[in-house]
Amino acid sequence: MAVVLPFEPKDPSIETLVRLVKGDMERVNALILSRTGSDVAMIPEVATHLISSGGKRLRPMLTIACAALSDYEGEGHIKLAASVEFMHTATLLHDDVVDESDMRRGKLAARKVWGNEASVLVGDFLLGQAFKMMVEVGILECLDILSTAACTIAEGEVMQLAAAKNTETSEDDYLAVIRGKTAELFAAACEVGAVLNHRPKAEQTACRSFGMNLGIAFQLVDDVLDYGGSQAKLGKNIGDDFREGKITLPVILAFRRGDAQERAFWKEALEQSETSDEQLQKAIALLIKHRALADTLERAQHYGAMARDALALFGPSPVKDALVEAVDFAISRGY
Ligand code: IPE
Ligand code: IPE
Ligand code: MG
Ligand code: MG
Repeated sequence: MAVVLPFEPKDPSIETLVRLVKGDMERVNALILSRTGSDVAMIPEVATHLISSGGKRLRPMLTIACAALSDYEGEGHIKLAASVEFMHTATLLHDDVVDESDMRRGKLAARKVWGNEASVLVGDFLLGQAFKMMVEVGILECLDILSTAACTIAEGEVMQLAAAKNTETSEDDYLAVIRGKTAELFAAACEVGAVLNHRPKAEQTACRSFGMNLGIAFQLVDDVLDYGGSQAKLGKNIGDDFREGKITLPVILAFRRGDAQERAFWKEALEQSETSDEQLQKAIALLIKHRALADTLERAQHYGAMARDALALFGPSPVKDALVEAVDFAISRGY
């Protein structure tokens, strides 16, 4: 499919962050793999299928970076970062079942290989492991932040389910969904980095706000890429949101800006259980016609700016620069 992004994706710029946290992330990745172990053979099989197919590891890198920003010198950040990635991995296993997605990280989604049941249950196992590691770190406040995030993510997903196919969904409703299902984990991942070293409340809040706004920007871009990205780069199928009748900001904007005929098209297509490739092409054409993708990206830039400004509290440092660059990556990314 032709790339219809209203911008040329720049080269990813998480490279500085990757380089800075490399040593710690090697330990996080080793821990992640070791914690998928179980006597029940299907658990490591399903888990490693997803975990070893890559993923950007953005959220655990944020935990490591925010711990470094807070001058933390202990060991707890490794387990917390692994917990954060496990929570993310669990939500992906569950999300692909809910969204009926076939591709993840360039491979068949676990549910296509082992079935929906296995995908949900292994997700539960990973969530359990995540909480075990948090308990091992032993800082109740971190456990509080991450367990609250687990509830909020689920709330976001359920809110989204309730809004599915409903073209009356407002931009505010949509924002509440993405704050919950995506931004909350980014916020928690960053906040625990500062909480680990018992930094002043203002710094904890700054890290949280950075993560929250970055997470909102990240999901806005994800929702653009679902219509305008490249399948090969993303490792997921384009058009999943459309087929599922998911009401994302690009759709909300195009629906509002459309005439009666166009609105009828959106209503019909989003309510159908099967959509054709022609319908997807028409949807993309309408999104472009009404600048819906471009304006969604503009919103992402706004939240990106808020994320950057949240870091003002911290003095200049290479980690801070890398976090600012991660914001640029989240907005200009093509994967
Ligand atoms: C995918 O997250 C789920 C969303 C919140 C959009 P990522 O794009 O971070 O997924 P991986 O971990 O890199 O595969
Ligand atoms: C991501 O939502 C949020 C979670 C995984 C909880 P999406 O459904 O947009 O994510 P992708 O596009 O499947 O990665
Ligand atoms: Mg999905
Ligand atoms: Mg998506």
